[in-house]
Amino acid sequence: MAGVVAALLFGAAAALRAEPLVNPLTADDDTVKLGRKAWIASGCMACHGNNARGAVGPDLTDDEWLRAYSDEMVFNTIKRGRSGTAMSGFGDTLSDTQIWQLITWLQDENRKRKAGAK
Ligand code: HEC
Repeated sequence: MAGVVAALLFGAAAALRAEPLVNPLTADDDTVKLGRKAWIASGCMACHGNNARGAVGPDLTDDEWLRAYSDEMVFNTIKRGRSGTAMSGFGDTLSDTQIWQLITWLQDENRKRKAGAK
């Protein structure tokens, strides 16, 4: 019986894992502003620059990434950090929603940059 329950739980966990995390937020003005606020409040600019265009840490507004890009990769990097690098996790201070807001702001910066607006 315990084996069956364990198998069911494992199956459910595997099913949940099968769906990659995708930014659930819409890039409206409020969300982008909240993301920018979370960026400033968390001190990300100390390493990535005021507008996230890179300093000690990499540029986060272009299409070049150290690891293959996915919303999930960026989310996990911000939430958990990267061991062995200066990039620490912010899961203790930022809620999941704030992390997605932050990502929405970064994606908006990327879009604007491509559009040549800045
Ligand atoms: C103390 C310096 C520091 C701070 C503060 C910092 N980062 Fe980083 N970050 C880094 C470094 C260094 C890397 C590169 C890690 C590596 O080599 O894989 C990085 C990597 C990243 C990446 C992955 C980039 C890629 O190309 O794969 C993301 C996304 C990121 N940081 C977001 C943030 C956000 C958002 C914040 C604020 C909540 C933040 N970082 C704060 C230093 C920092």
